[in-house]
Amino acid sequence: MICCQGYEFVPGGDTTFEVDTSRVKYGSGALREVGSDARELGMTRVALVTDRALAASAYVDAVRASLRDAGIDVAVYDESRVEPTDASFGAAADFARDGRFDGFVSVGGGSSIDTAKAANLYSTYPDAFDAYVNAPIGGAKPIPGALRPHIACPTTSGTGAEVTGIAIFDYLAHHAKTGIASKRLKPTLGVIDPDVTATLPKNVLACSGFDVLSHALESYTARPYTQRARPETPGARPMSQGANPFSDIASAEAMRILGANIVAAVNDPHDAAARERMMFAATLAGIGFGNAGVHVPHAMSYAVAGLVREYHAAEYPGTEAIVPHGMAVIVNAPASARFLASANPARHLEAAALLGAETTGVSNGDAGEVLARRIEELMRATGMPNGIGGVGFATADVAALRGGALPQKRLLANAPRPIDGPDLEALFASALAYW
Ligand SMILES: [Fe+2]
Repeated sequence: MICCQGYEFVPGGDTTFEVDTSRVKYGSGALREVGSDARELGMTRVALVTDRALAASAYVDAVRASLRDAGIDVAVYDESRVEPTDASFGAAADFARDGRFDGFVSVGGGSSIDTAKAANLYSTYPDAFDAYVNAPIGGAKPIPGALRPHIACPTTSGTGAEVTGIAIFDYLAHHAKTGIASKRLKPTLGVIDPDVTATLPKNVLACSGFDVLSHALESYTARPYTQRARPETPGARPMSQGANPFSDIASAEAMRILGANIVAAVNDPHDAAARERMMFAATLAGIGFGNAGVHVPHAMSYAVAGLVREYHAAEYPGTEAIVPHGMAVIVNAPASARFLASANPARHLEAAALLGAETTGVSNGDAGEVLARRIEELMRATGMPNGIGGVGFATADVAALRGGALPQKRLLANAPRPIDGPDLEALFASALAYW
């Protein structure tokens, strides 16, 4: 058997990978073409899903006007939550069911896009809410057929939700962040207009930028797809396939762009070129991690975001405690890099170089340290908190944090080396402060 791009096949391991992504349209002014895109997809009556803060924005206005100019009936749903919950997904699904729409358009961050995915699913194939939710919390039931067309228009340069088949939410009764994952949830078309980055506040841009950085880094360092057991049927191959030759290209280029642009994009709102690059990197990394999967920093982030007591990130709406997703991820990333690098030092060193670290003469044994320091440097230059201690956690919280991260089995299994409970405690302890 011929090996693939340097990936070595192992007995019982997979030998095949898939590249599955949404169709993508990218460029300045692309939002004004949504009406024509929707008509081409056969939409006549659309649910425009957004959140309250964006409902009165020029972006939603542009999309709504474009849809109306194309002769499409539009009903706006502006109740998406910034961190969606089972209740907010359910409310959007009720709206979708009552409205009898033949298409969805989402405008917003990952939350609005994910809300539209859920509304589309539950209004098209109604079932008990738990049915489609990831195991072990839910039944992980396969989605029975195609969903209605969905055009996703991101307004942050972050989640990549416009190209992925995952909808993440807080399951309130279980005090857990989980999701619904299926290729069928992927939006039909992602319309990415980098002009939206002009009005992104500094901290919002930083948080979403670090989410992108971690998507790319985690995909690049994920367990190789050849080391995951070959699925019994082709349809059982997971979206989180592990690092593969295609996701490597997307992830490496996204890291190169981020390393060169994140500091300028965050600190200078007038640096339109740097902000545009961030948007492109977000999409690229979305395609990468959508086909490879993330691992340890994301698994840890769900505990950080779920257990936060008082910290409220600047520029985020409301008064409730909130650690935005990208921030909850990146505060774990240096600790994770130090811990995981020995599993694949060459890759960690390459990632450090792509992010802009000086790696000439650095030995593989120092890969984790060099990568971690480069991430810390970027965090400090953009005003990120100093580890999980910076968002209010202390040594006494480490056991609870471990309890919050351990159930994220799907993510932990995608790490380049096995991770158990004591490992997670050690990771959280070393993520308390970095400088
Ligand atoms: Fe993420």
